[in-house]
Amino acid sequence: MKNVAVLLGSLSEKSINKTLVKAIEKLAEEHLRFDYLPIADLPFYNNDLWDNPPAAVTDLKQRVEAADAVLIVMPEFNRSFPAVIKNALDWGSRPYGQNSWMGKPLAIAGASPGGVGTAAGQSQLRAILPPLGFVTMGQPEVYFQFKPGLIDEHFEVTDEQSRGFLENFVDKYVEWIAKHGEQRSFSVAAE
Ligand code: FNR
Repeated sequence: MKNVAVLLGSLSEKSINKTLVKAIEKLAEEHLRFDYLPIADLPFYNNDLWDNPPAAVTDLKQRVEAADAVLIVMPEFNRSFPAVIKNALDWGSRPYGQNSWMGKPLAIAGASPGGVGTAAGQSQLRAILPPLGFVTMGQPEVYFQFKPGLIDEHFEVTDEQSRGFLENFVDKYVEWIAKHGEQRSFSVAAE
């Protein structure tokens, strides 16, 4: 069983992305344990706070460092990704030289009511990933067009094609974590 730190980019109780991540969690339950990081508790990033870091920040960093992988599931806001995600990524990346995201296998998914399925938001997110040091899974991409009833109240995906699509995403993510999830130590042969 691998431990996945989850960043859910919606704070709404009725969030369709919350429903999506719960459906993914259910499909992955034999392989992955999801730890939902309480990113709404983080203050806005402020470098001065490192003098006496808030518990929400140290807790976030500890939980990320204990995780085998990271999963971001998020809405698209104004063709970009939500501020709570950026704020969490910024906190986790500091202090300089103590980037908690470094080397973590990452997968991204998102849902919107429209056909764009968060594609523009995910594209913006991918553009800021290089300095964070994730090992990001490129395929399959999940741009999920959410329709009422597609995921039921037990987080079962009711449509066969959509369920197969998400099952394939989970299978590939489990493989990705198995391949990239362990810290490797490199040795350089002496001359
Ligand atoms: C949106 N929404 C949205 N949808 C989209 O496909 N592209 C976009 O750029 C935006 N922009 C946007 C901005 C803001 C501020 C809000 C609140 C919403 C609609 C969005 O996809 C919809 O509200 C989802 O239900 C949000 O996801 P959660 O919170 O339900 O998971």
